[in-house]
Formats: sequence, structure tokens, C-alpha cells
Amino acid sequence: MSTKPVPVNEPLLDGNERKYLLECIDTGWISSEGPFVRRFEDEFARCVGRRFGVAVSSGSAALDAAVVALGIGPDDEVIMPAFTIISCAAAIVRAGAVPVLVDSDPLTWNIDVAKIEQRLTNKTKAIMVVHIYGLPTDMDPILDLACRYSLLVIEDAAQMHGQTYRSRQCGSFGAVSTFSFYPNKHVTAGEGGMIVTDDSQVAERCRSLRNLCFKPEQRFVHDELGWNFRMTSIQAALGVAQLERLDEVVEKKRSMGRGYRNAFAGMTSIELTPDKTDYADNIYWVFGMVLSDEVAFDAREAMRRLGELGVGTRPFFWPMHEQPALRKRGLFGHERYPVAERLARRGFYIPSGVALTPEQLTEVASRVRKVLQ
Ligand SMILES: Cc1ncc(COP(=O)(O)O)c(C=O)c1O
Repeated sequence: MSTKPVPVNEPLLDGNERKYLLECIDTGWISSEGPFVRRFEDEFARCVGRRFGVAVSSGSAALDAAVVALGIGPDDEVIMPAFTIISCAAAIVRAGAVPVLVDSDPLTWNIDVAKIEQRLTNKTKAIMVVHIYGLPTDMDPILDLACRYSLLVIEDAAQMHGQTYRSRQCGSFGAVSTFSFYPNKHVTAGEGGMIVTDDSQVAERCRSLRNLCFKPEQRFVHDELGWNFRMTSIQAALGVAQLERLDEVVEKKRSMGRGYRNAFAGMTSIELTPDKTDYADNIYWVFGMVLSDEVAFDAREAMRRLGELGVGTRPFFWPMHEQPALRKRGLFGHERYPVAERLARRGFYIPSGVALTPEQLTEVASRVRKVLQ
């Protein structure tokens, strides 16, 4: 067996990336004013079936701007999963609103849809849905709740480029959807994010918020505080080139997911999300696994042992109610979310980047078997 280390993620940049980047340099258009930004916004929005795209500097920035653009603020509550990245809760807290947590579904690792309704109060303004690791959240019951209680839906599709829910693109649900273009995503811009929406006013508000809320009629005068969340044309050039290959990437990720599943068939030491549900096929943004109760050690120890064999790993998210930065603000009291807590302690993911070769996959799978069988 080879012992060459396999990184947890490597991007693939061998399409038109170089050509478009050179175009930026040759024309001098490198800032956010450059032509690739609008082109990326338009092409990305079209790809997910939305009317407007607003490119920003990261997926976290997209959430910050989206929450404020929807008018969410002090006294509002926003329902969100306990098991997600801090960016979701941070955007709600920074807007002055209160995140209200819901535990995860043990099968899909997404928010447990059946537990949302019991968390609604007369202050609930929105539900922030986050599709996690590969399967989308079951959207129909959420859209139905939102309709019955007049709630906004924010869809964090940061990990779901190219995924569909009942044949509809992820990123096309609710008032706004957000994406990330970090290098481990199916479409990367190095760093970057996008807000997509069908509402022209929300799109305009996001454009203003990402650009310091300059007053159009009097530059350097501001009625409100925004951010500099602008994306450069250099980033957008990468994004445009990456988007051209999205179908190919999705196909590759699904085949990688199936490859790992076959290699791990019959292993009772790990739990995986399903390859399919009645509403979606797993897109395997990352190939995550949770140690079953028969394994005596936790994810941290599994990752240490895999690291010794040259297998790159990343831990799962750490739940929001156990985040010191949020608890310090008096949030979440004695709340417990046992599924999220278990995922955090027993879950991790293995190399699953777009550039992973079939040979690397076979190597990784045999090293994982060695540690976990
Ligand atoms: C679900 C989710 N939301 C938001 C983000 C934040 O994106 P970024 O790293 O571009 O700020 C990520 C990052 O991976 C994510 O996974």
C-alpha cells in the first residue's frame, strides 16, 4: 500500500480558469467593477433558477447581508438547525435577532423538520434552512409551515451547488438563498459567496449592503451601515470558469460517493447518510461518517489514527448551543440537542475533493477500513 498522504480537499482548476484570469490581468479589470462579477451573478442565478444574483466576498457575508436585507432585526426569532456552521447563527445575532435551535434528523443530519413547529412563537420571523453535507433538507413541510405561519425562508445552500430537491434546484427555495465559493465547494472562486433571490428589492438591498450602503445620489453619505462584502472580478473569473463544469463535478462527486459506499459495504462501525431519499440523490459534498456505538473511541481519536496513515480529515460542525461565543451572550441556557451533540463528537469526513482520483479513493478506503474495522 502507498503511504502518500491524501489531503481532505483539492480543487480542480484545469478548465478556463487560467484563460479568464489572464483576461482580468490583460484588461486591468481586477476590482469588483470588472465585467466578470455581473457575468458570474447572471450565470449563477440562471443556473439555480433565480432572477437575481448578488456576488459577495464569502458565504458567511452572504448570510449576513441576506438576514438584514429581509428586515430581520431586534425582537425577531429565527429557527435554525443546532448542527451547522457558526456563520448562520452569527448572521442572526449580528442583526440583533435571536437564533432558536432545532435538533438534527439522525438519518440525514439536516434539521429535524418534525420538530420545527413546536419551536415557533409569536416572535418567529423566519426559518433558516441549511442543507448539510450531501442531502438537502426536506423542503415541502418547511414551505408549508412558512406559508401557514407567514414566515420567511432563508435557504443556506452553501454546500449544494448542483443539488436538486424534487427536481428543483437547491438555491431556488424561499425568499433568499445563499452560496459559498470556498475551494472545497463544487464551484469555487478562491473565496466568495452569492445571494440569489427573485425579489428585486431584496437584491437591490443586498447590493447596497455589500457596498457600504453608499447613497446613490450622494456618494460618501450613508443612511445606514453596510459592509465591504464586494467580490473582485478575479474571483468572479474563477467562478465563471468553474460554473462551466458544474455538471461534470456533480457527476464526479456522486460517483465518488458510490465508490466509498461500495468500499465500506458491510462495515458496522460507521453510519452514513442514505444514498437516496424520496426527494433527492445524495450529492456527497463531503463524504461524512459517524462512528457507531460499537467503536470505543471518538471522532477526534479516529482522525488522529487516520492522520498517522496520511488520510486528511475534518471534524463535523460543533453545535450552536455549545459555542462559547454564543453562550457568552446568554443564549441557549440548558438546552440540549442530543443528535447534534452525537454528530459533533462521533462525526468527521474523509478526502472527498473534486480532484480526488479513483486510486486515491481506493487507498483512503483501505486505510479507513484498517482503522475502523
Ligand atoms: C452551510 C454553510 N454555510 C455557510 C458557510 C460559510 O461559507 P464561507 O466559508 O464562504 O464564509 C459554509 C462554509 O463551508 C457552510 O458550509
